[in-house]
Amino acid sequence: MRIGIVGAGRLGTALAHRLGLAGHSIKLSFSRDLGAMAETARHHGAVTGTPDEAAAFGDVMALTVTWPIVPQAVRLCGAALDGRILWDCTSTIRRGMTGLEIGTTTSGAEVIAGLAPAARVVKGVPTFADLLMSDDPTVVGRPVSTFVAVTTPTPRPSSRPCSATCRPP
Ligand SMILES: NC(=O)c1ccc[n+]([C@@H]2O[C@H](COP(=O)([O-])OP(=O)(O)OC[C@H]3O[C@@H](n4cnc5c(N)ncnc54)[C@H](OP(=O)(O)O)[C@@H]3O)[C@@H](O)[C@H]2O)c1
Repeated sequence: MRIGIVGAGRLGTALAHRLGLAGHSIKLSFSRDLGAMAETARHHGAVTGTPDEAAAFGDVMALTVTWPIVPQAVRLCGAALDGRILWDCTSTIRRGMTGLEIGTTTSGAEVIAGLAPAARVVKGVPTFADLLMSDDPTVVGRPVSTFVAVTTPTPRPSSRPCSATCRPP
């Protein structure tokens, strides 16, 4: 599978590493240091581009930026997100773990679905970047579960709206 990533920080890099090991093709994007991002990408067998290039490249586009940067990152992906699976990896936890930016009346994924209305948003916050980067990304020998929520035009009985959290069927 081809996977674009917008956000070349800790999680974006860890996904490039782990998904690359699984045989996927990765295009990494969106850093204030393009040289460092290119070096990181090379190290993990990935390539780099702009956010809209990464979105156009991927069968799936992973969004891995901190919450305040989300609107800018989604805007830079532009129309390349239309019809594409947008994998929302973000959390809305405030810096310093002092609470949530949003999350009591709506959800981060719902806000992102509003920013990219023609994308197919899938919420699935991966485990810790450090664990994904480790040689053994398991906990007591077991793979880590990720809860997934989806928006689709015609929800299947086993799916829920974005504000709900459910295990994949
Ligand atoms: N880290 C984890 O273990 C983990 C696990 C699950 C979910 N998450 C979620 O994933 C998201 C990203 O987390 P992270 O730990 O990967 O964060 P991070 O290391 O701070 O990475 C943020 C990314 O945003 C980029 N960026 C571009 N313009 C920016 C600007 N003006 N200001 C700040 N950043 C800018 C950063 O670029 P630069 O290269 O220029 O810094 C970097 O690529 C968050 O929503 C977090 O809650 C993280």
